[in-house]
This record gives sequence, C-alpha cells and structure tokens, in this order.
Amino acid sequence: MKVTIDGQEIEVEAGTTILQAARMIGGEVVPPAMCYYSKLKGSGGKCRCCLVDVTKGSDADPRPMPKLMASCVTGCQDGMEIASKASPRVQEARKSVTEFLLINHPLDCPVCDQAGECDLQNLSFEHGKSATRFIEEKRTFEPEDIGPNIQLHMNRCILCQRCVQVADQLTDNRVHGVMDRGDHANISTCISKAIDNEFSGNMIDVCPVGALTDKTFRFKSRVWFNKPYNAHRDCDKCCGKTTVWMFGNEIQRVTGRKDEYHEVEEFICNGCRFDHKEVSDWVIEGPRKFEKDSVINQNNYTQKLEKVEIATEKNILLGRDQDRKKISMVSNPLDTNNKNS
Ligand code: SF4
Ligand code: FES
Repeated sequence: MKVTIDGQEIEVEAGTTILQAARMIGGEVVPPAMCYYSKLKGSGGKCRCCLVDVTKGSDADPRPMPKLMASCVTGCQDGMEIASKASPRVQEARKSVTEFLLINHPLDCPVCDQAGECDLQNLSFEHGKSATRFIEEKRTFEPEDIGPNIQLHMNRCILCQRCVQVADQLTDNRVHGVMDRGDHANISTCISKAIDNEFSGNMIDVCPVGALTDKTFRFKSRVWFNKPYNAHRDCDKCCGKTTVWMFGNEIQRVTGRKDEYHEVEEFICNGCRFDHKEVSDWVIEGPRKFEKDSVINQNNYTQKLEKVEIATEKNILLGRDQDRKKISMVSNPLDTNNKNS
C-alpha cells in the first residue's frame, strides 16, 4: 500500500500502522509516542500524543477522517494521506495533550533520576506551553514499596501501562497492574507483593517518566555525568547485551540498549541489571551514542582531546614567555566526570 505522510510517500505492508510507517520514513514526520512500544503487544492507544490528521482516508474512500487519529493504533490504507508535523491542528493537539499529561505530573525534574532521559521532559520541551492553567491541587499517592530493586513514584505516573504489559508478557505471575478508576487510577502491586520476577527490571526501561526507577542507582548521579558504554556478558537468562553507565571506573547502573525511539533493543534479566556492577563482569564494547540533542551528550567524551596550556598568574602579569609553565592535560577539560581532570 502507498501512504503519504507530510508529503513523503512510502510503500508499506498491509497491517502497518501510521506510526510504524512514519518511523520507516524517519525524521520530523515521526509522531511522539508515550505509551506505544513496538516490543510490547497491545501497547498504544492510551496517551494520545501520537495524534495525526488523516486528510485522505484512502484511494477507495478519499474522505478525510473528521477527528485526529492516534497513529499508533490506526492502520494504513492504500492511498492514505496524513499530515503530522506539517499540520497546525496536530501541533495544537499535541500541545494540549502535553498540557493534559502535565496537570498531575510533579515538576520535580531536579531531583528525579529520569531527568535527562525522560520522554515527558522531551515532549514538554518540544510541545509544552510555558505556563499552566491548572490551579487545582495535583493528584498525590502514598509511597508504596514494591520490592528491593524498583522504586515506584506513583505521583509521576502517566498511566501508559507499558509496565503492566512488561509484567504480562515477560514475567510469570504478574503481581501489579492498574487499580481503581479515573482520577484515582494508579499502578500498584496486588496485596503489596514485591516484584521479584526475573525480568521485572524491564519495567524501569519502558517507563517513559520517572515513575519506575532503579533503586540501586537512586540519587547516585545525573545521567549526563555518566558515561554510557555498550557491554556484554555471557548470560544464560537473557541476551546479556546491555548499556553500562559509568562514573569514573564505577558501573553505577545497567540498562537495556535503547534505540532512537528510546525503546530497548532487547530485554535483559534482573541478574545482569542489578547484580553485575563490577567492570570485570563485562566485556566493554565501546561508547554508546545518543541523538545529537540529548543532554547525555553534555558529557561528550567522543570529541577530540585537546592539549590545554595554562599560563601562571605571575607570567601573565609580567608577560614573560620564558617563565611560562605549560601544563598538559590529557583529558578533556569539559569532562566534569573525569576524576583525574
Ligand atoms: S509506572 Fe511508568 S510505565 Fe507504568 S504506567 Fe506509569 S508511566 Fe507507564
Ligand atoms: S503513542 Fe499512540 S496513543 Fe500513546
């Protein structure tokens, strides 16, 4: 089938959704997605971030669709024409959805471990309004302990339900899910059981906000102070391919490897994620690259190392070159993470 998104035509298989087609084109036509996750069956259709304008239904029925459509759950039709970033109506709708997601989300980015790799932060940066019209009190929940490895911060949850799908599809005996309805809806463990399934840590990776974070990494660092490396180990439970986040010579966190849409390439087991924090546990492959506007690149160790010369104060005052002391630094002076610099 041929579909056109923002003027760019592509051929897709029957059954392809508009979001998948947009990802095949890539770049600015790709709608944001907070609940869809290509590796999780049945995900999508909840957050409404991915709305697009179907300006022509198909060759057989060219009428436009009256409402904006969630691109992650709307299938392509032959001859379909779609406006995504190019549509002012879509842009306005994305702004409204962002505002809606933020009405209950706390503005605690300065203390949230997800800051710097948070999809909601990125969404607000791209589509957020600078002011809020919400004057009511934000929804809050009592803290709940869901086990030794995963921290649940329910106030930050946007109810995308990805974590529930991870629990359903990757672990045995799901013990958590969405409880209650409407404004009271929340993610919780049934009868407060701890989540100790071997793949439960993947909930942390799929959570688009800081509602589920890694207890073993909590408050240790900011992601932009860490150096992420691809690493692998022989693991009998999972692929063993991870990203290790280092501070100096210390591995502070282990995560799955995420692609350009912030989805993990392969799910990893809790053993790799939580129990192997020694450098000797891993074969380090090399630096993990991120999109160029990611704040993680703030700690950019990929740029060329430069020799730095520092003149002493006395020499500057006297202007005498011969007394000048040269201090060569082999490390990048911008690298605030390097303990030796
Ligand atoms: S805890 Fe995270 S992954 Fe789970 S529903 Fe809330 S936002 Fe989504
Ligand atoms: S990504 Fe489509 S509705 Fe959430």
